[in-house]
Amino acid sequence: MASPDIKQFPADFTWGTATSSYQIEGAVNEAGRGASIWDEFCRQPGKVVNAENGDIACDHYHRWPEDLDLLKALGFDAYRFSIAWPRILPTGLEEKPLQAGIDFYDRLVDGMLERGLQPWCTLYHWDLPLHLQELGGWPNRQTGEQFVRYADIMSRALGDRIKHWITHNEPWVISVLGHLHGEHAPGHEDWQETLRTAHHLLISHGQAVPVIRNNSNDCEVGITVNLCPAIAASESEADQQACRQFDGEYNRWFLDPLFGRGYPEDVLQTHLQKGRIKSRELEWILDGDMDLITAETDFLGINYYTREIVRSSEIAEADNLPRTVPAPGAEQVTDMGWEISPDSLNQLLHRLHDDYGAKRIVITENGAAYPTGLDENGNIDDIERIRYYQSHLMACQQAIESGVPLSGYFAWSLLDNFEWAFGYAKRFGLVHVDYQTLERTPKQSAKWFRDLLASRS
Ligand code: FCB
Repeated sequence: MASPDIKQFPADFTWGTATSSYQIEGAVNEAGRGASIWDEFCRQPGKVVNAENGDIACDHYHRWPEDLDLLKALGFDAYRFSIAWPRILPTGLEEKPLQAGIDFYDRLVDGMLERGLQPWCTLYHWDLPLHLQELGGWPNRQTGEQFVRYADIMSRALGDRIKHWITHNEPWVISVLGHLHGEHAPGHEDWQETLRTAHHLLISHGQAVPVIRNNSNDCEVGITVNLCPAIAASESEADQQACRQFDGEYNRWFLDPLFGRGYPEDVLQTHLQKGRIKSRELEWILDGDMDLITAETDFLGINYYTREIVRSSEIAEADNLPRTVPAPGAEQVTDMGWEISPDSLNQLLHRLHDDYGAKRIVITENGAAYPTGLDENGNIDDIERIRYYQSHLMACQQAIESGVPLSGYFAWSLLDNFEWAFGYAKRFGLVHVDYQTLERTPKQSAKWFRDLLASRS
């Protein structure tokens, strides 16, 4: 497989890895941290594989110096981490932040700077204070207002040192997996809640942007959306239509309002026809909201893992034209069952630039789960993960060469960690974690990145 040529990436391109608080920190009862919706969700029977939870996770709360040392030894420039909102505001409503919570992130950020690592901070990577859920959670507009207050507190406390801020991680996952499919916290299944959640995430993002800028001189602010390119399985009108609908609900529902186009009309009409909403005028959209959402940002963060081949479920299989896209075989999927499709990443980057006019794009997550463990010599030879990174970085290189303003890439993830509803069953790390001993062992893929990054100089 061809390897990316790092010299073809811009000299100031940012190379990093990403994690999130609940997936790695553990120490859930320490230093006054309040409960989050994920602590609660994990306690509900049948929600998480093996009834696992983030109580200990990678114990990063105590082992962060070792983790930052690893990042530095591998040669990365930047570290994308997230702040656990309930460590700062245990119920979400306290007037003053908990000093012990601020102190933890203060030390962590100083630790990054001492090692020459740029901190990229995500404010919301899904650990909502449980008390705010009890008051209605994201479907309640006030949760967004509390988020802006929390963003203000954090950017005042750390804005002198953090110069890269991401408001929310993956509004599609929060709204759809959390409020429609019931697979993520808070585990609800309700269309109204789903659409309200998406809207409140987007407006609170827009409201937080100027607040953060005001507190953090010369910083850069963005939001991270997870995008999934859709390909129709055949040329039949039914599949084409299903594909447009998938793209509308997954990608355009978030991109269109962020880029000033409002919510997509075709998706609104489908919601109406299917009885998911009562009127095309959504009552939770207030005057001025759509302008708030388009607050000018410095970059668009995207998380990319896979594409979706869409086949209509509304007509019998036999009525469809023959497939134009073969269904992926087992060898083309990762341990998540997600198809490996680097070309779709290249096309997606072009779409964001050519169609939406994105001026600066950062890949804030990309990576693959594979179960590879230690061999008899203590090595973890995760060749499939190396291939995944090679092919996706080649796609990035091609996109950059043809003019796409891609300026950073964060591998998901630094460590094997708590993969939400999959518990500890899915391993995305460049570094293996033994969950009995918490020992960290860099995999071959980590060494591959180290060599790639070293070839810059
Ligand atoms: C993304 C999440 C991240 C991780 C990866 C595999 O949806 O942002 O926390 O779970 O998927």
